[in-house]
Amino acid sequence: MQPTPEDRPITLSPSLPNPSSQPTPDKSVLQVWGNQPLSGHVTISGAKNSALVIMAGAILCSQDCRIRNVPLLADVNQMGNLLLALGIKVDRQGNCLDINAAHIAHSKAPYELVSQMRASFFVIGPLLARLGVARIPLPGGCAIGARPVDLHVRGLQAMGAEVQIDHGMVYASVRGQNKRLQGARIYLDYPSVGATETLMMAATLADGETTIENAAQEPEVVDLANFCRAMGAKIRGAGTKTIVISGVPSLHSTDYSIIPDRVEAGTFLVAGAITQSEISLSPVVPDHLTAVIAKLRAMGVQIIPDAPNRLRVVASERLSATDIKTLPYPGFPTDMQAQFMALLTLSDGDSVITETVFENRMRHVAELSRMGADIRVEGNHAIVRGVPFLSGAPVLATDLRASAALVVAALAAKGMTTIEGLHHLDRGYENLEAKLRQLGARIHRVTDGMETTSDSAARV
Ligand code: UD1
Repeated sequence: MQPTPEDRPITLSPSLPNPSSQPTPDKSVLQVWGNQPLSGHVTISGAKNSALVIMAGAILCSQDCRIRNVPLLADVNQMGNLLLALGIKVDRQGNCLDINAAHIAHSKAPYELVSQMRASFFVIGPLLARLGVARIPLPGGCAIGARPVDLHVRGLQAMGAEVQIDHGMVYASVRGQNKRLQGARIYLDYPSVGATETLMMAATLADGETTIENAAQEPEVVDLANFCRAMGAKIRGAGTKTIVISGVPSLHSTDYSIIPDRVEAGTFLVAGAITQSEISLSPVVPDHLTAVIAKLRAMGVQIIPDAPNRLRVVASERLSATDIKTLPYPGFPTDMQAQFMALLTLSDGDSVITETVFENRMRHVAELSRMGADIRVEGNHAIVRGVPFLSGAPVLATDLRASAALVVAALAAKGMTTIEGLHHLDRGYENLEAKLRQLGARIHRVTDGMETTSDSAARV
């Protein structure tokens, strides 16, 4: 008897770890000796959130896709493992990924991989578009909120997919002889980044035209659209509230480079500001950082464009307080809220931070308070009263951007801060310690009392 696609063994790429291997809990800690100025230049890596969805997008193409400027991160490895588990070829050489989805052996994503990383759910759209069937476990909640996928599901249903959710598994299929999704007019109740990306990918190979109204306008949505267009997809309006996709029968090979990570860049701008330093960053797309730059300037930080893709941050004195409200792009990004909270703890006056995107994204408050911050939380508001200084303390990273906030707070704090929970940090920052050390920071990773490598690429 012929093995079914689901029975076939997975051929592993030598450059990626076995998809069945579980991550071992990281016992490492970061030790940061703060209150020292930074100086010099830092190179910004490719955008994590673009890389993850573009890797999923490569499933749409049955030819070779080369993706450049991919950051070496635990989450990227995780997505690579998911593609491998689907029987797709993935090969990594440094920051370059070669993906070939000519043969997709499985339409079912393994629970272990989806439960570890929500972005794994992105494969539902491309799998449905290519195979007419996808079985993806519900990703569940995470440290920052419940994070439902109802908008993804409703959009796919509008395109003709039959979707059932049973025992925590999403079963999606397309009926009909050619198993193609149908173009549709979809209005998103909320401009969800993930739902916009799922539906845009699904629509590239659908029969007819799809319009996504109230679409997310994030730069990563535009990057995905540009990647799909480089493969021959017909997409217009990405980066605006209305995206129109005309389905094509198939996509072709491409060689594509990912945009710089605006959250990593924003985190380094905050690191420069909180340590009252002068540092420069490149490559960056300043337009992607408009809200972040506006808030830094309002606080008294100088942000100087030295070249079209290079920014210099100069902060010579204590900063003033400002209010922040997180919003979908082009509003202030929720992924920069925690780092700004760290910065505002050391500003003059009171600031109000309002988190509107995720319902549980203030867990870093307790940890910053351990370092001497004065923060009161009321619902989705945090009232930050500036204090004269922060003090080093043992703290626990509770999610990815919270861990970045603790690192920047530690850079400014008096004495040593020890940060636990580094698996969060390794999900999203390529070589953070090495980059900070290059700027003069005293930061080390310690495992069982021994200093270990600073190269995150080597760890993941
Ligand atoms: C993406 C980013 C994440 C960023 C977020 C908001 C990736 C891998 N992650 O996450 O870093 O913080 O955008 O900029 O790109 N929602 C629903 N139903 C849905 C989908 C979303 O109610 O079907 C809600 C969410 O619970 C949340 C809000 O919409 O409250 C925003 O979520 P969304 O924009 O979808 O974020 P992600 O795509 O998950």
